[in-house]
Amino acid sequence: MESKIKRREFINITSVAGLGVGLGVPSIACAINNKSIKPVLLGGPQTYTGSWPVWPIFDQVEREELLNVLNSGEWCRLGSKTAPRFEDEFRKLTEAKYAFGVSSGTSALYTMLGALNIGPGDEVIIPPYTFIATYNVVVLNYALPIFVDTDIESFQIDASKIESSITDNTKVIMPVHVGGSPADIDRIMDIAEKHKIPVIEDACQAHLAEWKGKSVGNWGLGGAFSFQASKNLNSGEGGAIITNDETFIQSCYSFHHQGQGSNAASLEPGTGTRGSNLRITEFQAAILLAQMTRLVEQAKRRSENAGYLTKMLKEIPGVTPAKLYNGVTRSAYHLYMFRYDKEKFAGMDRAKFLKALNAEGIPCSKGYNSLSKSEYVTNLAKNKHYLNIYGTKTMNDWVERISCPQNDRLCKQEAVWFYQTMLLGTKTDMEQIAEAIKKISMNAVEISKT
Ligand SMILES: Cc1ncc(COP(=O)(O)O)c(C=O)c1O
Repeated sequence: MESKIKRREFINITSVAGLGVGLGVPSIACAINNKSIKPVLLGGPQTYTGSWPVWPIFDQVEREELLNVLNSGEWCRLGSKTAPRFEDEFRKLTEAKYAFGVSSGTSALYTMLGALNIGPGDEVIIPPYTFIATYNVVVLNYALPIFVDTDIESFQIDASKIESSITDNTKVIMPVHVGGSPADIDRIMDIAEKHKIPVIEDACQAHLAEWKGKSVGNWGLGGAFSFQASKNLNSGEGGAIITNDETFIQSCYSFHHQGQGSNAASLEPGTGTRGSNLRITEFQAAILLAQMTRLVEQAKRRSENAGYLTKMLKEIPGVTPAKLYNGVTRSAYHLYMFRYDKEKFAGMDRAKFLKALNAEGIPCSKGYNSLSKSEYVTNLAKNKHYLNIYGTKTMNDWVERISCPQNDRLCKQEAVWFYQTMLLGTKTDMEQIAEAIKKISMNAVEISKT
């Protein structure tokens, strides 16, 4: 697979289009400024007339790769061929020096924290606007997760608030490139370098995303990717670690391979004093090799569609697409995220807006609940092991310390998501998303009364 060539072609195409933003903006107004076209909740016809792309997308390529592994009888990666083939392709795609597959994105993060020997007494800085795995891997190591509030404009960790959360116990900063858009990497790296704290990038949603032309996951000490079924690169379950640090890759390899030697064939002792089995299987690698033949083309389509949608949505009062930082040269658009301002929609709350939009045939969601407010998280303050390690006062203080008001506002009232599969649709699909929102906006007073 010529991933590198395809990747370069993709950069050229997207940079010309400026992440798709250079595309012409259609006038959605002509289709919907007619107030007699009612929204579905007021008895009108559904806006969306197409059929959304079905996920996953696969064909003979996947079948052949899978059958090759099946027939070879080599189903485990140890001493086998398929995982190394995948790792080589993934390394080229991300332009990292080293890459290896693991059983999931969670395993990738867990492995890197394990390789750094994170444990009781250590603090790890994470954002609250993320999938719960980012938090779980910290707690699995009995370290203290320290949430830093969200930049409500970008949905990413607010880099300006990281420094004040650093203590002598801070051992890792773990930003997430949430929704597939890079966090503010320059600012994060500056702070990390100043305090000599390693950065582990949770790039689980951010395949092919780039900051200043370089793949995410390549900026910190290591980057984690997920290939779970919903992800832009999908093997049902799966993950990968990338890094440019030889010592670190060996420690990671050892940790995920029961603390054994730093290559698949070795049963010699590796580095570190802890380990597990978090290996990728040959079947996962086979599907990934096949899925990767489509990844660049799909990323280009998502990027163009997202740019086109952003231009249209920016015209609608009360709808604010998530900001991309200046350093972002490409978002993976695993999610299309925007903020909803009910005041511009006649006070209609977000739940009613989502109901109205879903009724128009546009799948959408409110996204994450507030992680730092969830009982699953706050009950950590009562966990007997945490009380033993940190004591009651520290754990009570911790509940105060992790307060994230901006994130709470985003989760409770404002965030709205579309999914990556929708961005694989047509230009007409994007226009119909914008039309549906405009229709709801124009009829907000009446919809609010239903
Ligand atoms: C931001 C983030 N981190 C970590 C993970 C964990 O990945 P996995 O589900 O492959 O374990 C996910 C998966 O949804 C994720 O979105």
